[in-house]
Amino acid sequence: MNKNSLLSMKDLSAQEILSILDDAKCFNSSHDDWQLPMRKALVANLFFEPSTRTHYSFESAEFQLGCKVSDFNAETSSVKKGETLYDTVKTFESIGYDAVVIRHPEDNYFAQLEDVTIPIINAGDGRGNHPTQCLLDLLTIYDEFDSFEGLNIVICGDIQHSRVAMSNKQALETLGANLVFAGPKEWQRPGFPTMDFDEAVEWADVVMMLRIQKERGAALVSQMSDAEYLEKYGLNKERYSRMKENAIIMHPAPVNRGVEIDSDLVECEKSRIFKQMYNGVLVRKAVIKRAFGLKPFKED
Ligand code: CP
Repeated sequence: MNKNSLLSMKDLSAQEILSILDDAKCFNSSHDDWQLPMRKALVANLFFEPSTRTHYSFESAEFQLGCKVSDFNAETSSVKKGETLYDTVKTFESIGYDAVVIRHPEDNYFAQLEDVTIPIINAGDGRGNHPTQCLLDLLTIYDEFDSFEGLNIVICGDIQHSRVAMSNKQALETLGANLVFAGPKEWQRPGFPTMDFDEAVEWADVVMMLRIQKERGAALVSQMSDAEYLEKYGLNKERYSRMKENAIIMHPAPVNRGVEIDSDLVECEKSRIFKQMYNGVLVRKAVIKRAFGLKPFKED
């Protein structure tokens, strides 16, 4: 595996995380039009699952950095003839690509790609990891509070099926935040500390809501109306009214308005949901720069 790959947040130290966030901040200020110095930077985006934000913010980041970008379509590729993921990625390596971005429904898909030598950037694996989503979440929190140490953070909803929950647990604990999980008890994960959501909304500096992942078999939703779910487990206006004055709302999106969050709160004063998407391009620029083996701006 290439050492500049990014597969899981557990592979990054606190210092490495902060270095990527610092680079992302530079992309928002002093280095907004910086491009990769190499003449050829061929990147392929391999998305085997639906995506709007991750797919197109990677593409935006790649274009801004001057990469030549290919958008792989599994439906019209030789995957349809039975080609494996390993052989697909080795093909991109063999025909001259310098890096690949991969989203795949299988947990830990990258374990089968050990022998690939070009950098792999994980854009989400099943219920396992979503490192660039986590980095954009961290950047949004960092922009707001300038630190992670001692911050109270609750992540609420379908924890069991969420790669965002997993990556954020790995990173936020490394960075010294106080992290708890809330939502239906059927959807909690062993080893993830829980707090009643009604208590947590008053305690938290960051309230992060998660979508119900119906596509990964979150069955509880079929027994409950959207309104019932919002009332019992969602961020409704009553819970919002009890949040701390400087607390913020986050959500990786896509949002199911009126289910895990009241539609009116998606763009309320405390919401940073669209700011997260903006930050997604910045962190992906930093991660691609890192994949090409370039030093952080501050070390240059
Ligand atoms: N947050 C996120 O991963 O969104 P997409 O599935 O649209 O990429």
